[in-house]
Amino acid sequence: MRLERLLANMGCGTRKEVKLLIKSGKVAVNGKILRDPGAQVIPGQDQIVCNGQAVEYRKYIYLMMNKPAGVISATEDAKDRTVLDLLDPQYRHKGIFPVGRLDKDTEGLLLLTNDGPLGHRLLSPKKKVFKTYYARVQGQVTAADREAFRNGIVLDDGYRTLPGDLNILSEGPISEVEVMICEGKYHQVKRMFLALGKQVLYLKRVAMGDLVLDPRLRPGEYRELESEEIQRLTAVTE
Ligand code: URA
Repeated sequence: MRLERLLANMGCGTRKEVKLLIKSGKVAVNGKILRDPGAQVIPGQDQIVCNGQAVEYRKYIYLMMNKPAGVISATEDAKDRTVLDLLDPQYRHKGIFPVGRLDKDTEGLLLLTNDGPLGHRLLSPKKKVFKTYYARVQGQVTAADREAFRNGIVLDDGYRTLPGDLNILSEGPISEVEVMICEGKYHQVKRMFLALGKQVLYLKRVAMGDLVLDPRLRPGEYRELESEEIQRLTAVTE
């Protein structure tokens, strides 16, 4: 891999910035200063030091974000802020993308990674990875609604969803529920309730497979996954 690419990928700066660092003698490879941005290095094998700091090579980055309402879960948008805009510069420009979409007004667990194969497996309908949502719903959610979720619900476009689980946490003029579904159709949870004549007022994803949103993350905050979390996430897709 080109030295400048590795440094930019590892968050040492933009391509332009790392080129300057290399040319000004701030980068050493295996103890020797290299001034050629195009020098070939072996990721994970060559010892690279940039500005006096060892650069640890990682092929993939995995971030767990508590997505806030008001931002779009896409890599770019002509009008609105995206979840990538919330990331520190060291995590941008690395091919990181959000795994699946949450609506603009939905909060909660969003996985961001540059591990394309894992992202695709997590979204594949064949893998049936369950996503868990907490929702506040207008009106009384009943045992009949729970049964409807269990049987699959016919949406406004005629599609019958796969069976889901509905757990009623509290009933009243506004009910609180937990929903588990293994698909990701457009506005799926909201449309499932709409088909039952009910409106979702607030929606938050709390888990994806075994990966649970860290309660310490406030909306807009994120952290890297721990290796054990990455292993569990990988395991649900196998
Ligand atoms: N279902 C929805 O309706 N919206 C989301 O953002 C996610 C699931």
